[in-house]
Amino acid sequence: MIPPAAERESGAASVMVRPLGEADLDRADEICRVAFGTFLGAPDPFGTVDYVRTRWAADPRAAFAATVGGEVVGSNFATNWGSIGFFGPLTVRPDLWDQGIGRRLMEPVMDCFNAWGNRHLGLFTFAHSPKHLELYRRYGFWPRFLTAIMKKQVTDGAAVPGRVLYGELPAAERPDALSLCRALAGAVYEGLSLEREIVAAHAQGLGDTILLHGAASELDGLAVCHCGAGSEAGTDVCFVKFGAVRPGPEAADRFERLLDACERLAAERGLGQLDAGMNLGRPDAYRRMIDRGFRTWLQGVTMHRPNEPGYSHPDAYVIDDWR
Ligand SMILES: CC(C)(COP(=O)(O)OP(=O)(O)OC[C@H]1O[C@@H](n2cnc3c(N)ncnc32)[C@H](O)[C@@H]1OP(=O)(O)O)[C@@H](O)C(=O)NCCC(=O)NCCS
Repeated sequence: MIPPAAERESGAASVMVRPLGEADLDRADEICRVAFGTFLGAPDPFGTVDYVRTRWAADPRAAFAATVGGEVVGSNFATNWGSIGFFGPLTVRPDLWDQGIGRRLMEPVMDCFNAWGNRHLGLFTFAHSPKHLELYRRYGFWPRFLTAIMKKQVTDGAAVPGRVLYGELPAAERPDALSLCRALAGAVYEGLSLEREIVAAHAQGLGDTILLHGAASELDGLAVCHCGAGSEAGTDVCFVKFGAVRPGPEAADRFERLLDACERLAAERGLGQLDAGMNLGRPDAYRRMIDRGFRTWLQGVTMHRPNEPGYSHPDAYVIDDWR
């Protein structure tokens, strides 16, 4: 039988790589859980956290399956943040590890980055695994920063003046809000855009985006937050998938306000835990999170292509982890 045009044939085995379809989602999700569970020695490390369905829904053209004999055996997802591109989760069925399937699943995401023209590429992985580091090195990535996935218990904080939720804006005002977010992210790193993330969180009902207004006409901060089961947060958790404040003098104060606003959103949604990733290339932001009670529950390393810091430097008050 002639394979579909979108499929690529592997050299040796009958491994094919093709776009991930809606009908593949259950299987891909199951493999994702089993693969991480096997690697981490934990039966179900994700619980009610969802990556496969939410990332597929955010951009089905950037979601890929590997198949053997027509059966899905792994998947990978590319994410487009404007000038920044990252990928994952990449997973392969454990009984098929070390046969080159992970590498095959790198090809389509690298093709996405080429097509999108992202300037800086990255990923989050396990710092202690030589296999992971070598797999990604072959595609031009180099390990740079430890990245802490942190959590704290939510307390009922005061309302934060100037906070607006993207999801509460009338539809007619959303394009302007997205422009403000683009301007803020672009001030952090030229071309950085969280637009797809903001829209996906809203459209899929995964959570909401905090827009922090200050005295100026520009935004002081923004935070894309996932809330609860079925999102990237999981039951009882508010997860700050991306947060940033306007750089410059007083950025640290704006960062404190943004953290207050995230905690407040979690409390309003009745969520008991606030999760946020902090790249250790941003020491002051990290210290401020520790000072307010955040503790690290998972630590990994970000790998970068090219081998440059991107927006992970001391003056960037950004929350993210590229998981
Ligand atoms: C990570 C994962 C996707 C890799 O998939 P895979 O199909 O086993 O990977 P591949 O066989 O394509 O590539 C692994 C490469 O690492 C190399 N490698 C393995 N151990 C190594 C070591 N100790 N030192 C250096 N290289 C090593 C292998 O030789 C292989 O390269 P080769 O093809 O030239 O032999 C898979 O193991 C998985 O699902 N793990 C659990 C989930 C996970 O950790 N996902 C990634 C999160 S960032």
